[in-house]
Amino acid sequence: MKEKSILTGIRPTGNMHLGHYFGAVQTWKQLQDREEPFYLEIADVQALTDHFDQPDMVHKNVVELAIDILSCGIDPKKTNIFIQSMVPEIAELTVFYSNLVTIARLYRNPTVKTEMHQKKELFGDKGEGITYGFLGYPISQAADITAFTGVLVPVGEDQLPLLEQCREIVRKFNHIYGETLLEPEPILSDNKRIKGLDGNEKMGKSLGNAIFLSDDEDTIVKKIMGAVTDSNKIKKDDPANPDICMVYYYHKLVNSENLNVVCEECKKGKRGCVACKKELIANMLKFLKPIQDKRKYYLEHPEIIEQILKDGTEKAQAKAKNTMHDIKQSMQIDYFNRQDEAK
Ligand code: TRP
Ligand code: SF4
Repeated sequence: MKEKSILTGIRPTGNMHLGHYFGAVQTWKQLQDREEPFYLEIADVQALTDHFDQPDMVHKNVVELAIDILSCGIDPKKTNIFIQSMVPEIAELTVFYSNLVTIARLYRNPTVKTEMHQKKELFGDKGEGITYGFLGYPISQAADITAFTGVLVPVGEDQLPLLEQCREIVRKFNHIYGETLLEPEPILSDNKRIKGLDGNEKMGKSLGNAIFLSDDEDTIVKKIMGAVTDSNKIKKDDPANPDICMVYYYHKLVNSENLNVVCEECKKGKRGCVACKKELIANMLKFLKPIQDKRKYYLEHPEIIEQILKDGTEKAQAKAKNTMHDIKQSMQIDYFNRQDEAK
């Protein structure tokens, strides 16, 4: 059980965008080369906590997300990509852990609080309609992590309160039932949060400011043409400040060749915004091309995706079973397996 692994999860509620790519996937690509096994969970059960009424959306996005993940260069030989609902031990563990967490503590979890207020139509203006499942999803996430002895958990900053909650559960479990679980540690990626096309601090599907890995050329042209630039620049030859321009911000992500030229020309008023955007569009398309080629290949070969998910899920099931054995032993609910003691 004490084999340490790396575990992270992602909710299948939409396609991947550049925020995921630069904020998370790049870190995953580095982590898959480490010696610890890497489990990448497609968290469909968690997605259902606030999308329980959209089963087709969640189902479709499990497959789409698997395609996105693989197209970005996550290697299924190194990373076990699996589907949360297919590892029932996670649900079982969630039940055991729910004894160790108070309702008040869940209400205090900053991530839950923020999300609860963002989902007013679902949970009411003051969160009075919050469900048991949604309020408790940090417990289920603690089960995700510990089922795989995930001691290293790559996450964004917004997830830190969930990790802290998991650490508390681990300490409480060990205190009551004996040293069994390992406390996880976060791995924060360097790039953290990617801004949206509108200059918003966060790129997000629901914010309508994201470039998706699956966007076609026309969509990308439209989105970049509408990106926020330095609003003080009116005429083509006005000098401007690239540091407050989203076009320059994205140049920094996908243009490694003439970034200095873009910056200097902008400051000196030697570059028009339209031309600058067109250059970004070309670079963005070039950057996305290999990812989109792979996406196309996988879309045409759903049987490959299915096999990869089956293999990853099987490995995850084996690992979770193993952990569960130890946990049940510690909790003394391993009823018909206690030969050692009987003899
Ligand atoms: N809550 C995470 C998110 O919304 C997804 C997630 C599910 C996760 N299970 C996890 C992250 C386990 C880290 C570890 O992005
Ligand atoms: Fe932004 Fe380019 Fe216009 Fe400068 S020239 S403000 S970097 S779009």
